[in-house]
Amino acid sequence: MSLERLIYASRRSAGVDVPALVAQAARHNEAAGLTGALATLEDDFFQYLEGTPQSVEALLRKLLVDPRHSDLKVLERRAIPRRLFGQWRMAHLQWNADTEAIFRIFSPDARLKLRDIDPATCAPMFRAWLALLEGAGPTLKDMNVK
Ligand SMILES: Cc1cc2nc3c(=O)[nH]c(=O)nc-3n(C[C@H](O)[C@H](O)[C@H](O)COP(=O)(O)O)c2cc1C
Repeated sequence: MSLERLIYASRRSAGVDVPALVAQAARHNEAAGLTGALATLEDDFFQYLEGTPQSVEALLRKLLVDPRHSDLKVLERRAIPRRLFGQWRMAHLQWNADTEAIFRIFSPDARLKLRDIDPATCAPMFRAWLALLEGAGPTLKDMNVK
């Protein structure tokens, strides 16, 4: 089965109920065989999706017309040999000191402007966030982040 990943950034619309959105996404993804994570950074969404090319394409078409966000910019879309978020129908990565520290390590110049991010750093950043989620990551203290 061929697999693809899609990483995009978008601008969150005012008043979006993010926990409800994540719950709905997780339900749909289970049926569609999609996995991934949604990070909420300040006023932006940053999402990593993986699944068959057909299911990724079908979701992208819905995302492009979803009024809960705008200005969707695809940062990376490519074939992958295996899933990264296989255990996660849709993980929610909340913006906090830990997630922000990882963002700054991978993207020191982006100043939280996701549209300026180097696309090559996106997948490794999600990989590091996943390690944080699963408790397997180096702690901030170990990494000596200021
Ligand atoms: C930032 C964001 C992330 C979303 N992520 C997903 C997702 O991972 N899976 C999903 O099925 N829908 C996701 N949605 C919702 C879809 O845009 C769409 O509303 C949903 O798939 C239901 O579509 P349907 O009712 O036409 O089937 C997301 C929406 C937004 C705004």
